[in-house]
Amino acid sequence: MHSLKSKDLLDIQSLSVDEIRLICNTAKYFKDVFTRSVKSVPVLRGKSVCTLFYEPSTRTKISFDLAAKRLSADLINFSVSTSSVVKGESLIDTVHTLEAMRVDYIVMRHAASLAPHFLSKNIDASVINAGDGFHAHPTQALLDTYSIFEKRQNLEGLKIAIVGDIKHSRVARSDIEAFKKMGAQVIICGPPTLVPDDFKVYGVDISYNLDELLPELDVINLLRIQKERQHGSLFPSLREYHKNFALTTERLEKCKSDIIVMHPGPINRGIEIDSAVASCKNAIINEQVTNGVAVRMSIFYLLAGGAPPEGISE
Ligand code: CP
Repeated sequence: MHSLKSKDLLDIQSLSVDEIRLICNTAKYFKDVFTRSVKSVPVLRGKSVCTLFYEPSTRTKISFDLAAKRLSADLINFSVSTSSVVKGESLIDTVHTLEAMRVDYIVMRHAASLAPHFLSKNIDASVINAGDGFHAHPTQALLDTYSIFEKRQNLEGLKIAIVGDIKHSRVARSDIEAFKKMGAQVIICGPPTLVPDDFKVYGVDISYNLDELLPELDVINLLRIQKERQHGSLFPSLREYHKNFALTTERLEKCKSDIIVMHPGPINRGIEIDSAVASCKNAIINEQVTNGVAVRMSIFYLLAGGAPPEGISE
């Protein structure tokens, strides 16, 4: 298998285990490429990528931009705030405009769940979901999966806790699907108001007691408290949240010595993770960011139906 079966990358659900492995193996190749002095390869020369972000982003947006440039694609940054969207142009009309300009890839982040799925049905270009509402953030889940592969070679049998605001998190939904698909045991943990019981349909275990979990974990993935998505008070205070669910230096001491500490960013230091823990030897938060570029290069490349990476010359 050398390419992905769909023209789009919309969610983890649509990917097979073999496709996830292919994305990770290809990302490894591209990570090697950008540790060279010349960091780009000409594999997408003549192709165009448009990034369409209706919600803010630092990591995802920059890493898609860099990935496109390192593959030598033409990059168009669509700025929603300076576009005709502010004059009331609809998503479908914006998309038809891009289609008329023969854009090859559209990378979209949108507040509405399934907006990229709608887009994909109305355009021939490849659509990549860079985060849609609470629904999915598949490229984050793929870079998280790749980052664990780099450290452990396999996710089979690993115990992975995802801690924090599960209810409002598209990262949690996509991570759960990816980690479960690759054979890990996933436990979601946080206050009951942020860890809904209906997540059991994903085949996860639920815990409201982080301290009990810590000694048995191989990986802990901490999520940001998403104040902007919460309506009403879902826990007594941030101080209370920190007391019960933050990964502090004291809690890290209760963990296995080689536990992998992850966070998709942006970090709320002193709320879900202490500063000292975010920069400790177990934390791979910056490596996740580096790997995000490699994984997004891999996705662009595989959606183009490229030859095996061995065939790419410098
Ligand atoms: N992890 C993530 O999606 O970060 P950004 O919102 O900065 O893109």
